[in-house]
Amino acid sequence: MSVPAFDLDQHIDVAAVEDIPEGEGRRYEIDGQAIAIFRDKGVLYAVSDTCTHEEYSLSDGDVWEHTVECPKHGARFDLVTGEALSLPATVSIEPYRLEVRDGRIYVATLADRYREPCPECHTSAAER
Ligand code: FES
Repeated sequence: MSVPAFDLDQHIDVAAVEDIPEGEGRRYEIDGQAIAIFRDKGVLYAVSDTCTHEEYSLSDGDVWEHTVECPKHGARFDLVTGEALSLPATVSIEPYRLEVRDGRIYVATLADRYREPCPECHTSAAER
């Protein structure tokens, strides 16, 4: 699977890399969506900030092994895929594409994600 080239026009400058302490997360609003950026062992991840169990913010959750644990009831999510790894959550969170340029964190906008074809049917979101 090829990775789309970085296009600054389709990314939003969200924060400085140093704004995200090791082992922690921070909450931001992008295109009206709450996202959380986490740092785990020096690697940055961007996912939707809302737990799919009872819509609690994940940005204050404990981070380890590229997962975050919801502070409210303890569901864990994979920060790479967004997959719900433990109960009580059963629905995944959304992962976002993230790029670091010159010490700044850029997150793909929803418009960018919509342009990407479905990996199964190869149609754009507009065609589905
Ligand atoms: S609100 Fe996150 S596990 Fe319940």
